[in-house]
Amino acid sequence: MSLEQNLDDKFKELNIIEEQQNKIRFYLNMLKEKDIQTYYHSIAVGLKMADAVDDKKAGLYCGILHDIGKLAIDDEILRKTEFTQDDLEKIKEHPVYGFLILGEEFAFSALAGALLHHQNQTKSYPCIKNLSTIIGSKNPESLEKAKQYAKILHVIDDKDAKEHRRNNYREQ
Ligand SMILES: [Fe+2]
Ligand SMILES: [Fe+2]
Repeated sequence: MSLEQNLDDKFKELNIIEEQQNKIRFYLNMLKEKDIQTYYHSIAVGLKMADAVDDKKAGLYCGILHDIGKLAIDDEILRKTEFTQDDLEKIKEHPVYGFLILGEEFAFSALAGALLHHQNQTKSYPCIKNLSTIIGSKNPESLEKAKQYAKILHVIDDKDAKEHRRNNYREQ
C-alpha cells in the first residue's frame, strides 16, 4: 500500500474531520510541489509518530509538519546531493521558518514538530536560549509534552532520513 493510502487510513482511524484533513493536505501539497522527497518523508514520519505516541493525532500532525519550513529554503539547495557549509547554514533555518509558517493554528506542531525537532542531536539547532520567551503564555504541561514528542520525533526523523535521503546524510 502506498504512503498516501496509509495516510488516508490513518485519517479515518483517528476520526479526523475533513476540514482538518484538508488543512494538512494543503501543507503536504505544497511540499509535494517543492520537493517530492520531503513530501514522502513527511508522510512517513507522521505515520510513525502516530504509532509511537499516546496522543496519536498530535503525533501525526507534528510528524507530517516537522519539515514544513523547508518550503522557505531555495529549491536549488534542497535538490543538491552535496551541500556546502553555506547551504547547511541556510537549511538550518528550516525549524524557525516552520514554527512561523504553522503559527497558532497548529501551535503544538509548530513547537514540537517544527521548532524543536533538531534540538536532540549532537549539533543541535537552532540555538534556543530561553524557550519560554518564544512560546509566551503556553502552559508548562504542553511545553513538557512538546519536548517529549520532539525527542521521539528526532529518533523517527533521523532513521527515515538515513534510509531515504538522496544526499549525504548529515543530521540536517
Ligand atoms: Fe528537519
Ligand atoms: Fe525531517
